[in-house]
Amino acid sequence: MTESFDDAFSESLSTSLANRVLIFDSGLGGLSICRELISASAELELLYLSDNEAFPYGEKDPEQLVRRVTTVLEHALKTLAVDILVIACNTASTVALAKLRETLKIPIVGVVPAIKTAAKLSKSKAFGLLATPGTVNSPYTQKLIRQHAPTHDVRCIGSSELVREIEAHTNGADLNIELVASIIEGFDSFDAIDTLVLGCTHFPLIINTFKQLRPHWNWVDSGAAIATRVLSLLDIPALAEAKAAVAAPAPLAARKHNAWFTQRNIDHEALNRYLQTVNFLPAHHLNIS
Ligand code: DGL
Repeated sequence: MTESFDDAFSESLSTSLANRVLIFDSGLGGLSICRELISASAELELLYLSDNEAFPYGEKDPEQLVRRVTTVLEHALKTLAVDILVIACNTASTVALAKLRETLKIPIVGVVPAIKTAAKLSKSKAFGLLATPGTVNSPYTQKLIRQHAPTHDVRCIGSSELVREIEAHTNGADLNIELVASIIEGFDSFDAIDTLVLGCTHFPLIINTFKQLRPHWNWVDSGAAIATRVLSLLDIPALAEAKAAVAAPAPLAARKHNAWFTQRNIDHEALNRYLQTVNFLPAHHLNIS
């Protein structure tokens, strides 16, 4: 019996369907990481967990946040069997990553502000960091800046207002462009700025708006680097490489993924509409208590 190229390709996919990745955030920001993962590989099964009952994380006391994130993830990992965990939240990663790695017996990828990339990209040696107050104030972030941009001029702005605005937008509300513009204006007194780091996973969800407001800046986030890291830990070639290895793979049916939310009362209709744009099925509730 002969085997076609397409059969061989489907076979290699079906044997690797166990690549289950749990992506965790306080809200829907982590979907910006899911988008990168989906465009990097068709071999991943994504499970999304939003701790929207405790949203937003960026204003919480660090100790309280470490406790909350650890409890939620310990509980979730008893229910959801996954191969790898992505903390798709800069606030939780900069504060709780060390503790999570100590506590949870699973490979963990954290998402932290792309300071190193921005330092390399900025020709003027002056860049901004837009993140949550928690991320901006965390010793981890300040250390990243000292390590990777010691001679750069770095201006940090923490805004929970913007995180709330984007979360509301993903739940059906119109985006208030004037609000976004006024937050970006906070960097305007900083003449030499040519690069802005989006240090919160919610922010890349409105990247087109940012680019329209300041088209001449470099906009930097961690999404693509995180996707590369996840694929390398799971030993999966990136889609571009996989395609190159197979002459003409059959078009893949878009895989549907699942998402869980810790808050019971949510506007499912608007939320499900947004989830669908990233290939997710309607929301499930995960009871943490
Ligand atoms: N997406 C989260 C982050 O990357 C938002 C944090 C929050 O809930 O304030 O920081």
